[in-house]
Amino acid sequence: MPGITLGDTVPNLEVETTHKNFKLHDYFSDSWTVLFSHPGDFTPVCTTELGAMGKYAHEFEQRGVKLLGLSCDDIQSHKDWIPDIEAFTPGSKVTYPIIADPNKEIIPQLNMIDSIENGPSRALHIVGPDCKIKLSFLYPSTTGRNMDEVLRALDSLLMAAKHQNKIATPVNWRPDEPVVISPAVSDEEAKKLFPKGFKTAELPSKKGYLRVADV
Ligand code: BEZ
Repeated sequence: MPGITLGDTVPNLEVETTHKNFKLHDYFSDSWTVLFSHPGDFTPVCTTELGAMGKYAHEFEQRGVKLLGLSCDDIQSHKDWIPDIEAFTPGSKVTYPIIADPNKEIIPQLNMIDSIENGPSRALHIVGPDCKIKLSFLYPSTTGRNMDEVLRALDSLLMAAKHQNKIATPVNWRPDEPVVISPAVSDEEAKKLFPKGFKTAELPSKKGYLRVADV
C-alpha cells in the first residue's frame, strides 16, 4: 500500500465539502475522525455505505468522533445524491461533510487508491487528534464496508489510547469484554495498573505472556 499509512500525518489539504471548505488539520484537531472514501456518487454500494454511516452517526457522536466522507464527484453532485442516500436507508441523515474530489486529485494524496483497479478504493482511515493515521481499511470497489466493524475497531483504538497502549484488545473483542495486557508491562506494573487483578493463561510454553484483565 504505497503512500501514507499507519503513524503518518495526513497532509493538511484544503478541501471543498458539502458543509464548507476547510483544511484537514483544522477538522481533525481536538477529536478522532473517521475519514472514508467512495469511488463515485450515484453508485449502488456507496449509496448503502453513506446511508449506514448516517444511521450510525449518533454512535460516533456519543464517542466524540467526527465523520468525514469523500467521493470522486463535485459538490453539486453530492448534494443531489444525498436525498437518494437518505431514502434508501430509513432513519439515516447525512449530517457529516462529504469532500469533493471530481478530478481524483485528493485520493492519491490520502492513499485511498486501489492499485489493481488503478482508481479510487473504499478506504477508511481513523485519524487521531494529532492528525496521524491510527488504523486503515482498504477495500476494493466491489466490497462494501461493515460499519459494526468500523465502530468495534474504533472502540479498540479508544480503549488502547485511554490506557496509554498498555493494553490491547483480543480477537473479536467488544466493549465490556476483558482486554489483554501488553507484553511491555511487567507483572509488578500490571498489579498497580489493574486493581481488579489479572489472570495469566496457563499455556504449554509456561511463558506467561497472555494476561487478561477487566478494565
Ligand atoms: C459500486 O457500487 O461501486 C459497484 C457496484 C458493482 C460493481 C462494482 C462497483
